[in-house]
Amino acid sequence: MDDLKQKYLTQIAGAGDEATLETIRLAAVGKKGEVALKMRELGGMTPEERQVAGPALNALKNEINSALAAKKAALADAALDARLREEWLDVTLPARSRPRGTIHPISQVTEEVTAIFAEMGFSVAEGPRIDTDWYNFDALNIPGHHPARAEMDTFYMHRAEGDNRPPHVLRTHTSPVQIRSMEAMGAPMRIICPGGVYRADYDHTHTPMFHQVEGLAIDRDISMANLKWVLEEFVKAFFEVDGVDLRFRASHFPFTEPSAEVDIRCSWEGGTLKVGEGDDWLEILGSGMVHPKVLKAGGIDPESWQGFAFGMGIDRIAMLKYGIPDLRAFFDSDLRWLRHYGFASLDQPTLHGGLSR
Ligand code: PHE
Repeated sequence: MDDLKQKYLTQIAGAGDEATLETIRLAAVGKKGEVALKMRELGGMTPEERQVAGPALNALKNEINSALAAKKAALADAALDARLREEWLDVTLPARSRPRGTIHPISQVTEEVTAIFAEMGFSVAEGPRIDTDWYNFDALNIPGHHPARAEMDTFYMHRAEGDNRPPHVLRTHTSPVQIRSMEAMGAPMRIICPGGVYRADYDHTHTPMFHQVEGLAIDRDISMANLKWVLEEFVKAFFEVDGVDLRFRASHFPFTEPSAEVDIRCSWEGGTLKVGEGDDWLEILGSGMVHPKVLKAGGIDPESWQGFAFGMGIDRIAMLKYGIPDLRAFFDSDLRWLRHYGFASLDQPTLHGGLSR
């Protein structure tokens, strides 16, 4: 009986799965198992022998049964452990792999500029990139013979013979949106208009398509002082510096009177631009008080209203802020360049959250 016990306990201990365990159970304590056969032998024994062998066989049967039960539970535990290990999830992993696309610096800077002017009450206006020469020129006090038309290297749209629609151009600046916004909103108003513009020009600081942001504020007594404050606030916020020096340089645009180009104090020490300190000046935009003829063209009475306007190159200020050396790279769609100069897609620029991180 000791041999039987030893044999089955060893087999049970070595069983690797439930099926093996069941085979062992049948062979040991099943109806036709070895223990059952032994029990049958009890019939041929003397009552004395039976009294010793009977309880011993029962004890053996019980012992084998409880070893089987214990092993079964252990196998189930091990199986559960294995499953848990296999089905383990790191719930801290991001749901999707990190996006590989980036936000183009022009889009980023457009968002930054929009966030800053939105804070000052400017809404975003838009206009068509193909516009009539009236919106692009005449309404802005640039009549047909005006040299500014030639200076702007305008792309004219082809016109079929007999087509008597007004001539269309690829807008050479965002200023036509001044007129369209005046028509749509009337006075008072405060808008910016970011968007693409076109001029036939190509070298390392000029591309045939580039981006501007127009600003326009009209009210009863708006002055150059308001313009200066707005631009100072903008430059400080955009370049993320505490103080700036702005210099207004007398200039000329047909659509503003007086007109000024605006420079900011900067230094180029060590080849990197620092805004707000140093002895250099950097031109960043053109501006002025909206010409009365332009107000009139937009349907606004210049006797009752006045305003300021400015126009700024988005590509240019993006290059300055982010140290991007060549304008043409903006339009090359080179993925390596985009990975280097691009921005994370989920970081929306806001004034309180930080413009660029
Ligand atoms: N439209 C001008 C340009 O493209 C910029 C400008 C806009 C100047 C508004 C003054 C006022 O150069």
